[in-house]
Parts: sequence; structure tokens; C-alpha cells
Amino acid sequence: MRLAVNIDHIATIREARKSDEPDPIAAAVLCELAGAQGITVHLRGDRRHIQDRDVELLRRTVSTHLNVEMAATSEMVRIAQTIKPHRVTLVPERKDELTTEGGLDVVLHSGNLEKVVRQLLDSAIDVSIFVDPDLEQIRHCSKIHAPKIEINTGRFTDAWRLGNWPAEIEKITTAARGARKMGLNVFAGHGLNYRNIDAIAGIADIEELNIGHSIIARAALVGLERAVREMAELMRNPRRLPAR
Ligand code: PXP
Repeated sequence: MRLAVNIDHIATIREARKSDEPDPIAAAVLCELAGAQGITVHLRGDRRHIQDRDVELLRRTVSTHLNVEMAATSEMVRIAQTIKPHRVTLVPERKDELTTEGGLDVVLHSGNLEKVVRQLLDSAIDVSIFVDPDLEQIRHCSKIHAPKIEINTGRFTDAWRLGNWPAEIEKITTAARGARKMGLNVFAGHGLNYRNIDAIAGIADIEELNIGHSIIARAALVGLERAVREMAELMRNPRRLPAR
């Protein structure tokens, strides 16, 4: 299972002062040196953290794999077609949300999503869709020819905080297995941290995890390279949890 680090919150710190540091490009390089196998950023409509220039520079710097999360709008498609990241992950976006709140409703928006998936694939950009662990939604991803999905682990991480998570892990496991059978590549992410990772890291059908907030939060205390290494190690050996 690969680890892709979401570095949005490096840019959040920079934007808090509208300054030029810390630099997401330097952060991406450090994550890769520490063993990250991908870099993820979310180019939001409100540009609250990552800016267009960051994505351009990351495209030229990242040596593993650049995944850009974005809403399925014509503005974002144009930007993707210009910058050409390795992969675009289509996500829902609500103006005042603190973070992505759930998977895309692919059933409801299948017309627009099918068009956007085709435009991106025609531009030689790989496409993933962020969806809840729901087989009906996943079937629609396959129907509109999205080659990859990212399963939203947000419900699991909410349940984990309350101590009643096994049913949510079951849903993710079933969804991942079903998606693989449909021929989709399966990734997952949202809300994962150093304490809940072991439940997800054991799911064989998931190829990659996208993890942001917990790694950047830990990096503020122990440094980015150590934070990335510790997460990668936990994904390899899920039971060895570090102290809080
Ligand atoms: N995957 C998607 C689609 C997301 O929108 C986010 C948050 O930007 C993440 C993964 C990473 O979530 P977290 O920051 O909670 O690890």
C-alpha cells in the first residue's frame, strides 16, 4: 500500500500570513525523501491554501506522482489541462466547509462527471473519483468510465473517535473488494491518523492512502521527515503505534 501525503496545510500556514513560507515545494521534496510515494494537493475554488502557482511548480518538481484534488468545474478542468498533473481526483466542494465533507454523489451528477472524466482522460490525465463506500456510487464511477476511485474514510474515522468503527471498516472492505472486481483501482483517505491507520492498512484491495492533516500536524512537533517515516512504517507494520 502506497502513502501519498497531502501537503495542503503547509500552504495553510503560509496563507495565514500571506507570506512566502513554509514552501509547499520544499515540503513535497522532504516528503518524497522520507518515502512518500505520491504528493496530493487540493486546488480549492477559494484558494484558501494551495495556489495555482504551487500546482505548476509541483508538477515540475514532484518526482513520484502528483495528484490534484479539484471540483468538477470547467475552470478546474482548464487548469488541469494546462498543468497536466499525473492524476486528478474529483471531489465535492462546498464554499464554507472546513474540509471535504463526503464523497461525490456520482449517481446525481453522472452527466457532468462523465463529461469531465472524458475531458481529463482525453488530455492524458489519470482520473479518480472521491466516493463514499457505497457500491451503487462505485458502480456509477465504473459506468462513467472513471478508472480509479478514492474511498472516503471520513465516516470510519468519525466512528473510530466514538469507539464503534468495525461496521465502517466492513463497509470499506466490501466497497474496495467490489470496486476491484469492477476493474477499478482503489485508493482511500480522509481523517486517517497515527492511531486509526492500523484498521485501514490491513485492507488488501486498497492500493494507496492519501493522508494530510495528521501528518502535517505531527510534523509541526517532530519534523516532516520523521512524521512521514512514522506513518509509512505504521502502514507496513500496523500494530506498532507511536506515543501521542
Ligand atoms: N482525500 C481527499 C479526497 C481529501 O479531500 C482530503 C482532504 O483534503 C484527504 C484525502 C486528506 O484528508 P486528511 O487531511 O483528513 O488526511
